[in-house]
Amino acid sequence: MTTAVTIPRHGGTGGRTAVAARARQVVKAYGSGETRVVALDSVDVDIARGQFTAIMGPSGSGKSTLMHCLAGLDTVTSGEIFLDETEITRLKDKKLTQLRRDRIGFIFQAFNLLPTLSAIENITLPMDIAGRKPDAEWLRRVVDTVGLSERLKHRPNELSGGQQQRVAVARALAARPEIIFGDEPTGNLDSRAGAEVLGFLRTSVDELSQTIVMVTHDPVAASYADRVLYLADGRIVDEMLRPTAEAVLDRMKDFDARGRTS
Ligand SMILES: Nc1ncnc2c1ncn2[C@@H]1O[C@H](COP(=O)(O)OP(=O)(O)OP(=O)(O)O)[C@@H](O)[C@H]1O
Ligand SMILES: [Mg+2]
Repeated sequence: MTTAVTIPRHGGTGGRTAVAARARQVVKAYGSGETRVVALDSVDVDIARGQFTAIMGPSGSGKSTLMHCLAGLDTVTSGEIFLDETEITRLKDKKLTQLRRDRIGFIFQAFNLLPTLSAIENITLPMDIAGRKPDAEWLRRVVDTVGLSERLKHRPNELSGGQQQRVAVARALAARPEIIFGDEPTGNLDSRAGAEVLGFLRTSVDELSQTIVMVTHDPVAASYADRVLYLADGRIVDEMLRPTAEAVLDRMKDFDARGRTS
């Protein structure tokens, strides 16, 4: 069982460290006394830069909590979270909001698009709010890669679910964040639209050196990742490198069998 993996330094990280984000002894507890729930139990994890990491595990195992803590969307009870060299668990609200805005991208399960804005306005919204001008060349590349060039003027209700999700993916990528987090980003899509979005996420890692962390229940979705982390009861209990859908499915069956006998 491996709980923390040291990733060697390698080239092509743009002067940043090879670890994009890391958690050290992170505990997240909700409530107190008899109703206390430990959602994360001393988690140590390194998220390698330029890699696609999937987080899997049973419902209630702490996947969303881990992702939210890594992304600075939720506070920890104890322990430390770093984004590159910045310890985000030490940041005050204002700095944390700024960091989330400038350095992190999110893809939510419910796309969170603004209905009154067109696709392109939704994509550039976070940068507009931050008062940053999008890099036109980059924006075109992102929009082309997600296959939305013909749909940019449309509002979300004029787009299919898959297209809306691609807008959400483009929005996350447009600002070139250091890391993108997705909580079941393809959970609402049919398998074809899901495959499109996953293929695009894969491409953004391979060709644009993006770092991505994705929570999923789906072995096929997980097979797009470089590495799968398995959570159970708030702990990282296993990992798999270069996963295939079959291997992930087998591992899940293993866990289920163990769960039943223990
Ligand atoms: N705000 C909260 N208050 C109390 N308990 C919470 C809260 N949020 C999460 N929990 C508990 O923490 C544990 C982990 O929840 P989490 O949402 O991280 O699970 P998950 O692995 O994402 O599950 P799912 O696959 O169902 O989305 C669960 O037992 C959950 O009930
Ligand atoms: Mg969840």
